[in-house]
Amino acid sequence: MDTSAFQPIQGMTDLAVPEVSLWQRLEADARRTLALYGFTEVRTPVVEQTAVFTRSLGETTDVVQKEMYTFTDRGGRSLTLRPEGTAGVIRYALGLGAEADGARLYYIGPMFRCERPQAGRKRQFHQLGVEAFGVPNPVADVEVIAMQLHLLEAWGLQGFTLDLNTRGMLEDRPAVTQGLADAARPHLGALCEDCQRRFATNILRLLDCKKESCRQIVAGLPPTTQFMSADSRQYLDAVLTLLQKIGVPARLNPQLVRGLDYYVHTVWEIRHGALGAQDALSGGGRYRVTLGEKTFDGVGFAIGLERAIMAVQHDQPEAATLATATPVWLVSMGPAALAANLDLAQTLRRAGRACGLDLATRSMKAQMRAANKAGAATVLIRGDQELEQGTIMLKNMADGSQQAVPLADLTARLAAQLILKQ
Ligand code: HAM
Repeated sequence: MDTSAFQPIQGMTDLAVPEVSLWQRLEADARRTLALYGFTEVRTPVVEQTAVFTRSLGETTDVVQKEMYTFTDRGGRSLTLRPEGTAGVIRYALGLGAEADGARLYYIGPMFRCERPQAGRKRQFHQLGVEAFGVPNPVADVEVIAMQLHLLEAWGLQGFTLDLNTRGMLEDRPAVTQGLADAARPHLGALCEDCQRRFATNILRLLDCKKESCRQIVAGLPPTTQFMSADSRQYLDAVLTLLQKIGVPARLNPQLVRGLDYYVHTVWEIRHGALGAQDALSGGGRYRVTLGEKTFDGVGFAIGLERAIMAVQHDQPEAATLATATPVWLVSMGPAALAANLDLAQTLRRAGRACGLDLATRSMKAQMRAANKAGAATVLIRGDQELEQGTIMLKNMADGSQQAVPLADLTARLAAQLILKQ
């Protein structure tokens, strides 16, 4: 039988133990850290009308042109699986009316891009993102960057770098485009095919082409700030000064442009040495998007969680093996003991103590094997005799000792055992 139809889709993976425990830890750390800054969670749908993305991200971006999962639904509407989180959050904020200004929101969830899968690049991946709306302001940008570094430190990450640049204001774009085109035109023939196309459609993207031949040409081009207004340059200076003041080491990278069109002013990227070719752990920036009647000014970032997990596994190998053991296991000899143990298991669980039990009355050997597999530190064994006596056999798996304990003493004994273990 051909079972390929039952494989996950290429570039999309299942997540389960033990890795999922690490995901849960990172998510819990993130919720705690972001709450310190007054951010609250928003959960937007994974599917939006296609225009939400084309309008926000820009028609000529790679994401919109090549990477979106777009389909027509049964009602003839063009819908798209979200390739990123910012556009959906802006669409949500549109419904908030005047309250959108000052909103501080975060999201954690799956995103979808039809890219060629490779290490660190998936078709379904997960982002943790934040968006803060309000008047453009270098302090707001720096606060969000500082929060991001706080979060990466809470995760125990060290091996990352922060690159920063400016996209200038929308009003600067014609001069920047013109200035770059004039400088790049003499080299047009030597640029790769993609860059020759970008030259006409989205010239800024020349700057972050990965091909070595293009990089050499780009290194000789003037920085885009040269074509920007004094206001934009001052904004960048203010951001850099503030970062320095609060001790954030950022590298000004004139070639950093980011792949989405909505950015204005500050853009940044965080890279991590353990990630290989796909080394961008996170990207962010200030943006301006007009949706419907309203123009949104916001600043935010998104961290790729698959990549964050890889980075944590590298920087903190011990964190990668979080305990998933069931500390207490109940063994039942005979159906009466099984029924009594099911009742006991519920009592223990209600009291907050994780435990497991064999649901079939198998041999003692098979049940002990299951206890071992579950990583139990304590095994509680009951048969007809213990039921009659109102006791339970408590076996300490570390030293193999066992002792009959009156049921009434069990909770205290388990608590003592737990304290001893700590
Ligand atoms: P982005 O740079 O496109 O920005 O994505 C952010 C992060 O998502 C990347 O740095 C990377 O870690 C992860 N990522 C992107 N594509 C993939 C993929 N195919 N597989 C695995 N991980 C991936 C944004 O999405 C913006 N919305 C960020 C933002 C929020 N800017 C302002 N607010």
